[in-house]
Amino acid sequence: MKLVKGLRAGLLSVWLSGFLLIALSFYGTQLLSPSSLDGPFRYSSRSIAAPPPRITIFTALRSSSSLDEDSQAFLAIRSWLALSSQVTVVLFSQHSNLSSDFSFTDKFGSRLLLDSTIDFTFLGTPFIHSMLARSEAYQSDIAVLMDPETVLLPDFISALNYAHQLDRDWLLVSSSVGIPSFPFSWDNTGHFWRQGNGKRVRFGELQKMISLRSWQSNSSESKMIMAWNTVDVPLQCGVLPPFLYQRATYNQWIINEAMSCKRRFVFDATSTISSFYLGNEDNRSDNNVSKPKARNWEYIGNSHLGQLYGSLFSKSFTLPKLLKCNKHYMFVNVSDRSVDLSILEGKGVGFRRREKISACISRTKSRSLKLDIVQKKDEAVPQLKFPFDLQSLLPLVADKNRTVVLSIAGYSYKDMLMSWVCRLRRLKVPNFLVCALDDETYQFSILQGLPVFIDPYAPKNISFNDCHFGSKCFQRVTKVKSRTVLKILKQGYNVLLSDVDVYWFRNPLPLLQSFGPSVLVAQSDEYNTTVPINQPRRLNSGFYFTRSDAPTITAMEKVVKHAATSGLSEQPSFYDTLCGEGGVYRLGDDRCLEPETNLTVQFLDRELFPNGAYRDLWLKEDVRAECEKKHCFVLHNNWISGRLKKIERQMMRGLWEYDASMRMCV
Ligand SMILES: *[C@@H]1O[C@H](CO)[C@@H](O)[C@H](O)[C@H]1NC(C)=O
Ligand SMILES: *[C@@H]1O[C@H](CO)[C@@H](O)[C@H](O)[C@H]1NC(C)=O
Ligand SMILES: *[C@@H]1O[C@H](CO)[C@@H](O)[C@H](O)[C@H]1NC(C)=O
Ligand SMILES: *[C@@H]1O[C@H](CO)[C@@H](O)[C@H](O)[C@H]1NC(C)=O
Ligand SMILES: *[C@@H]1O[C@H](CO)[C@@H](O)[C@H](O)[C@H]1NC(C)=O
Ligand SMILES: *[C@@H]1O[C@H](CO)[C@@H](O)[C@H](O)[C@H]1NC(C)=O
Ligand SMILES: *[C@@H]1O[C@H](CO)[C@@H](O)[C@H](O)[C@H]1NC(C)=O
Ligand SMILES: *[C@@H]1O[C@H](CO)[C@@H](O)[C@H](O)[C@H]1NC(C)=O
Ligand SMILES: *[C@@H]1O[C@H](CO)[C@@H](O)[C@H](O)[C@H]1NC(C)=O
Repeated sequence: MKLVKGLRAGLLSVWLSGFLLIALSFYGTQLLSPSSLDGPFRYSSRSIAAPPPRITIFTALRSSSSLDEDSQAFLAIRSWLALSSQVTVVLFSQHSNLSSDFSFTDKFGSRLLLDSTIDFTFLGTPFIHSMLARSEAYQSDIAVLMDPETVLLPDFISALNYAHQLDRDWLLVSSSVGIPSFPFSWDNTGHFWRQGNGKRVRFGELQKMISLRSWQSNSSESKMIMAWNTVDVPLQCGVLPPFLYQRATYNQWIINEAMSCKRRFVFDATSTISSFYLGNEDNRSDNNVSKPKARNWEYIGNSHLGQLYGSLFSKSFTLPKLLKCNKHYMFVNVSDRSVDLSILEGKGVGFRRREKISACISRTKSRSLKLDIVQKKDEAVPQLKFPFDLQSLLPLVADKNRTVVLSIAGYSYKDMLMSWVCRLRRLKVPNFLVCALDDETYQFSILQGLPVFIDPYAPKNISFNDCHFGSKCFQRVTKVKSRTVLKILKQGYNVLLSDVDVYWFRNPLPLLQSFGPSVLVAQSDEYNTTVPINQPRRLNSGFYFTRSDAPTITAMEKVVKHAATSGLSEQPSFYDTLCGEGGVYRLGDDRCLEPETNLTVQFLDRELFPNGAYRDLWLKEDVRAECEKKHCFVLHNNWISGRLKKIERQMMRGLWEYDASMRMCV
């Protein structure tokens, strides 16, 4: 591979045996640091001839993390913004109101942007593919992706300014060092650190500290900085799977993919960028010290994804290293110990200069990239054990009114499930739960960050195309639904059951909860606009809201019992039990009253909750505009046979929110 096409002035073999030795060169650090850097430690942007590149640093906070003055992230982000006015920070966070408790937004103003439009798992862990996709929307010369707790020193800016002058697309990677403590305090007015005695900390001292620490520590570090130019071009050729941010594996995955893709020059700049974080991996706020293994499944999930997709294990690469010697940057090929001198300014590099450089390099101890330990393909991947069941998920996802939104899906409906989930994420409805009918759906949902549980009694062979209304399969599946709803009601939670083919325009929960206790609220399946909506068997069991109160639980028990002995789907069981056979318990045009429990069934206004046949809405040119005009809450994609036709109708009408090929919400 040519480092810089056509420019390669000469390849100089350098003996680098001492290169990796720790013992060599305590002097190295001194020699390496240009004299200016030995002056008082102060952040400032260096003046260079070309306009300095705009640098945007992307990072994310888990929803449980805070950003108060004492937090690691506060310390780190402050250090980035103080580096140079070239730097802008985009902080992905689920809290759209984070800015209110940001005590430094005033200070850094427009250089700190909050973005809550990416996807997070139900536990608030951000998705890396969603972050990277979103980063392309920002105008910048250089994009940087890093952990929010990593502190940067000024050589970061110099290295990026240098890389910015390369004449091809590149991806820079650099490892950070964990240090046990950082005994300095930040001087806000001067933008530097002070020692306990008030003296300024020199940059060289910090650099030395990081260097020494790096050699002492032999743990693998998973904290890495990635930076790249041409920010609207993806780093890899393949599609990034839904890796979880800060949960290992993806750094190595991206590097491997970027190398095999050959679109970018990938290099290791660890020895030229000084960065550190406090503590070690096991001692971080998001890795609860008392329960360090509690989130183990997230790491294993990333490892699964790494194995499933891409070429993580097919090849191993050695990255060229970016070194700095006598103020000059250069690339060194670690395999054949050659130096690419073409990058040095000036065409010809004289013999004396070469000698000097080779001597400098052999003196230099240089830090290298440290990657996560990734399971090799031939080693068995530990079983992905999701530490949640229905009982433990309920308190995690339920809203303040103890309400959950439940959906039930089998594998053939997994894309439709995701479209439904993406829509709820978009509407900021976080309290949904997924019941998986089979193991494939269960595994798939875990890797998509969904709060999922599996119904052990579900019929196992339901994943086929024609599980549509009226079929035997449909009858068996629907019975899982009422059984699961009842189980949740008995645990003290209200349930809105919504099939995955119900498209949500807006959040109906506030309205549904307003009907009060002892009322079961359901969509009507009646399409004839001139007849009452509570006609026999018109209760749609694909969208209904139930409260966890005694009348509802007793009534639901009757429905489940009725359905168990019925040869039909559960839909008639609902109607016949709650509204009586032939509708004998009907009350007015839109209700029923079940006499034994006094449970009222309220049918929802079809203008607001239209079924798939009502007013031929699905045939309208612009379904969305039509529904928005009516102020619809939801539109059911029913009254159509066949999974593919159903999906096609929803996609054609622009009511589809998941890009299966990119594996993310759109
Ligand atoms: C901000 O968000 C937090 C967490 O979501 C919440 O507890 C708090 O009430 C919100 N504050 C305001 C002013 O909305
Ligand atoms: C690093 O390695 C040395 C020697 O192999 C060992 O004694 C030491 O305990 C290791 N340190 C850590 C933090 O693993
Ligand atoms: C974790 O880090 C804190 C400093 O942030 C330190 O006081 C504590 O001793 C560390 N704990 C462990 C187990 O390393
Ligand atoms: C860590 O887990 C323990 C036990 O579950 C909990 O009590 C504690 O609040 C957690 N600490 C943090 C910082 O999340
Ligand atoms: C580094 O050296 C090895 C061995 O000579 C060679 O195969 C490889 O192509 C070189 N890499 C680069 C980036 O020049
Ligand atoms: C599904 O499995 C059940 C028994 O587990 C069997 O009775 C039924 O015929 C199967 N249905 C189909 C469509 O394969
Ligand atoms: C909880 O229920 C009340 C009415 O019972 C409603 O006003 C409120 O919006 C509900 N809260 C949520 C989060 O849905
Ligand atoms: C709707 O119901 C009315 C009254 O029962 C009937 O005359 C009409 O034919 C029905 N329309 C459709 C489209 O079924
Ligand atoms: C239902 O309501 C009727 C009339 O208000 C009352 O007599 C009856 O006891 C109620 N039944 C139950 C189960 O609450």
